[in-house]
Amino acid sequence: MPGTVITVTSGKGGVGKTTTTTNVAVALALAGKRVVVVDADIGLRNLDLVMGLESRVIYDLVDVVEGRCELQQALVRDNRVESLHLLAAAQTRDKSDVGIQQMVSVCKALSQTADYVIIDSPAGIEHGFQSAIAPSDRVLIVTTADVSALRDADKVIYLLERDWKHQPGLVVNRYNAQLSRDGELRDIDDILDILSIDLLGVVPEHKSIVLATDRGQPIALNRRHYVSQAYHNMAQRVMGNNVPLMDFREPGFFNALARLFGR
Ligand SMILES: Nc1ncnc2c1ncn2[C@@H]1O[C@H](COP(=O)(O)OP(=O)(O)O)[C@@H](O)[C@H]1O
Ligand SMILES: [Mg+2]
Repeated sequence: MPGTVITVTSGKGGVGKTTTTTNVAVALALAGKRVVVVDADIGLRNLDLVMGLESRVIYDLVDVVEGRCELQQALVRDNRVESLHLLAAAQTRDKSDVGIQQMVSVCKALSQTADYVIIDSPAGIEHGFQSAIAPSDRVLIVTTADVSALRDADKVIYLLERDWKHQPGLVVNRYNAQLSRDGELRDIDDILDILSIDLLGVVPEHKSIVLATDRGQPIALNRRHYVSQAYHNMAQRVMGNNVPLMDFREPGFFNALARLFGR
């Protein structure tokens, strides 16, 4: 049976698509699945950097569709997780260099040998978005709790349901439990009320994610970090396993509380 093609999209840029793609891919691969991540953000590629594989990219997606190399030759294997591969985007080309049908063929071919093909899509709802959605079996929408990200997510959900008959799953990123508890920012239930789609996972706001990204060391590689758990839980849900939402208090929270109350 061919693998599942999953597209990670959002509408608004900078909400965490690339971070989500990378870490969910790492978590699925660590769970023993064969995973290929495809950077569909042509012209603005950065999945290779976030994964820490930039120095090993020789061929990219445009080389594949223009016949300069075989598909297998363009796959960069991750040395840290054996069953994880990257198909990089071209850095200098235009988004329209990869046609929708070409993207479908590439992903279909990849899904013959991979359990999951995960496409990181560009911001917006133009050509790049369409070619990232056309091959997908499942779509994940990433949003943050702020009003502009939610409005863009809502628009994309509408388009996905209307034009593609997709029922996307939601990833709430950069969740700040403290602000939500204090009533300063929407909580998960408010977000679900606004978007009314199924929740796949929640990732807390954490500086370690920024640092890990900057070092090309996805946080999901470090299973001991509590934020990493959010991605491993999402990977489990992608695989169809029922996992409860994690506790969004950092380890040490209870100790700090005990100190505060003099215990
Ligand atoms: N949960 C998080 N906590 C803190 N920073 C995050 C989180 N998720 C993403 N970021 C940071 O936000 C920035 C944008 O993320 P990125 O994944 O590149 O977004 P997109 O692909 O949607 O443009 C990056 O600097 C990334 O490290
Ligand atoms: Mg991105």
